[in-house]
Amino acid sequence: MTVNSQAFDQWIRTRFCDLNTELEHFYWQQNDKVNVDNIGGELKQQLESEGRFLILPLLDEGNTDNGFDNAFDLLGNVGLYMAACRRHEITEPSTEQSSPLIEASALAMHIGASIGVTPRFATAHLTTHNKALNGSYKRFTHLDAEKVFIDYNTKAILAYKRTADALIKIQPLGISHPITADLLHVAKQGLKDVIESNKSLFQKLDTDRFFNCVRPYYKPYRVGKEVYRGANAGDFAGINVIDLQLGLCFANEPSYSQMLVDKFLYMMPEDQLILRDCMRRTSIMDDFLDAHNCHQQQWYQQNLRLFLEVCQLHGKTAILHHNQLVERYITKPSAAIAQQHMQKITASGPPLHELLDTLEKLRDRRAAHQRDDIRTRYADIEALKSSLAEE
Ligand code: HEM
Repeated sequence: MTVNSQAFDQWIRTRFCDLNTELEHFYWQQNDKVNVDNIGGELKQQLESEGRFLILPLLDEGNTDNGFDNAFDLLGNVGLYMAACRRHEITEPSTEQSSPLIEASALAMHIGASIGVTPRFATAHLTTHNKALNGSYKRFTHLDAEKVFIDYNTKAILAYKRTADALIKIQPLGISHPITADLLHVAKQGLKDVIESNKSLFQKLDTDRFFNCVRPYYKPYRVGKEVYRGANAGDFAGINVIDLQLGLCFANEPSYSQMLVDKFLYMMPEDQLILRDCMRRTSIMDDFLDAHNCHQQQWYQQNLRLFLEVCQLHGKTAILHHNQLVERYITKPSAAIAQQHMQKITASGPPLHELLDTLEKLRDRRAAHQRDDIRTRYADIEALKSSLAEE
């Protein structure tokens, strides 16, 4: 890390976090907690100018040749700064043609384009690639709710990744290989860990704090001329690797492939490669369907039973995400706030009902629910279940 990027990193880890926390404190004291107008003007100005002062020398330095990790980390820091300016409405994409944070935008675009990711902060910056120094990792604020949110996002993402890594190793071995059972066991355990982690998050995360003081840092913001959608915990390849390898979702279905296309640049380059590779593979479900004439074999019975358990657990993670996390932390509080604030709610931009509809369809594909308007694997799962011998 260069001296300039170290100084910026140090500021993000300390003063930046203090300023955001102080501003949150003022917003929280209002009756209308969503309002940020005419509050903490001096603090907002300090945030904007102190960040700009540290970004200027980095822009001159052209910090791209110190290796991928440093460039990615610096992009995260610039992104956290821009997201905080958006949260405090120092910038407001709907009333601007181009970001007023000219130097920050230029630095973010330079780095983003040079390493092949979107020029904004992504989930990985705060979760899987957020270096802790002496026990503390980077955050927007000192609020407990934010720490709980990031801790459990990181835990669940890593658990999903363990499942994805196991599933991806099955194809070269084949569904009849004796060690495939081991990999299916690992996949099951990863999904059980996601469920446990999400249950703890659901128990520990304060709804009002999350909705009013954490979620607003994940809004879309402008970098240069373009508006980039907010980060969300799904911006890693593993979740889609699981969907596609299990065969619960289809890479050639328009709405699903649209989602993949939209998220590619929000993922780390190594994740982009994994997902691309996975989009060209056949699924484990299709391999089992093709092997139905082996249903009397011991390997078929053992591995299919495990495979169906993995599918069921994946469905369960999606059901809990939608019916618990999204319902409690987005849908319910959104319904309760004034209509004038509605357009500010989702991280990704589309109206709430559209977003909920998309998430509901994903849930039903992952859970193989019976639906006649979208393609799910309900019938195939039923057919596979019926090929299992009675226990
Ligand atoms: C308080 C907790 C959470 C809430 C309120 C929440 C809410 C949401 C919302 C509203 C979206 C839609 C995209 C957007 O608005 O930008 C989304 C997407 C997503 N979230 Fe969460 N989420 C939470 C935690 C998690 C956790 C811990 C995971 C586990 C890794 C996760 C996995 C995903 C995935 C994979 C997506 C992308 C869409 C998909 O493929 O299902 N979320 N989440």
